[in-house]
Amino acid sequence: MQLAVALAALVAAVGALEPVSVSLAIGAASVLSGYLAKPRFYCAFVECCPPDDHRPDPAALQQSLNERLFGQHLAQEVILKALTGFIHNSNPKKPLVLSLHGWAGTGKNFVSQIIAESLYPAGLKSTFVHLFLSTLHFPHEHLVPLYKDQLQKWIRGNVSTCAKSVFIFDEMDKLHPGLIDAIKPFLDYYEQIDGVSYRRAIFIFLSNAGGDLITRVALEFWKSGREREQIQLKDLEMVLSLGVFNNRNSGLWHSSLIDRNLIDYFVPFLPLEYKHVKMCIRAEMKSRGNFVDEEIVENVAGEMTFFPKDEKIYSDKGCKTVQTKLDFY
Ligand SMILES: *[C@@H]1O[C@H](CO)[C@@H](O)[C@H](O)[C@H]1NC(C)=O
Repeated sequence: MQLAVALAALVAAVGALEPVSVSLAIGAASVLSGYLAKPRFYCAFVECCPPDDHRPDPAALQQSLNERLFGQHLAQEVILKALTGFIHNSNPKKPLVLSLHGWAGTGKNFVSQIIAESLYPAGLKSTFVHLFLSTLHFPHEHLVPLYKDQLQKWIRGNVSTCAKSVFIFDEMDKLHPGLIDAIKPFLDYYEQIDGVSYRRAIFIFLSNAGGDLITRVALEFWKSGREREQIQLKDLEMVLSLGVFNNRNSGLWHSSLIDRNLIDYFVPFLPLEYKHVKMCIRAEMKSRGNFVDEEIVENVAGEMTFFPKDEKIYSDKGCKTVQTKLDFY
């Protein structure tokens, strides 16, 4: 007990010091507290890159996907399969590359957050998870050659530091066509490039492109009276990869990533129905520690707009504005 208090005080104290002094202090502490192995002790306070044989528990990922993601049976299934397979593969031949597609508010960002959290406790804030926003990081068309250079350097630098780095590219539909091809070599089946192996890294692309195609298929199912849950990956995967390849505004327009089959999974996010929006609202209320009042749930859901014009089945913005709408109540 006393030891724990002393250690806590020490950790609080080293928080204020420079990295070198921190590692010295922590090194000293580990010697003092003989039975604590240094790496484990050190990594309890400073985020460390997980060793190659570290396998996060897929059950936690499955639980998160089940409890926090609504109306996305395909995404749930594909993400779980892809990640579990990749994590348990002791010798992957290429990095894992996922391309997430669907309208805004259907859960793409949320899923990348869940993936990050399943790999790193700090989630998106982890040192080893990198999020790129097209409009923020690569806004100017005339700077594309510079961005390509930068991006390659960043990825090389980060993967050399930690093989299990995660790179998330949001707003792919706003990415200048061609920019993404700069990272193609890293996604390919090479053992290593200039001494760096990229085979344990994970790349995730998020895009609205293909949302219209996905909606069309979902609507066809609905019109013919079939359950949404009967939509299978094969109903969408081909449409999606072709559609995205031929869409000038997809970020993957005529991209060699598709040509060369470097994207392992196209993950479709279906448009959300009224009942899913209500699920999001309930989950949000619970996460705020509030009692779930069904009247408020109905009210908030009633404020959302739905499409197509006649049928009014799918929420325009998915669950995206649920949080701000709830603030009013
Ligand atoms: C890692 O990526 C970030 C961008 O997310 C970049 O700012 C940083 O310089 C990169 N680190 C290295 C060592 O290249």
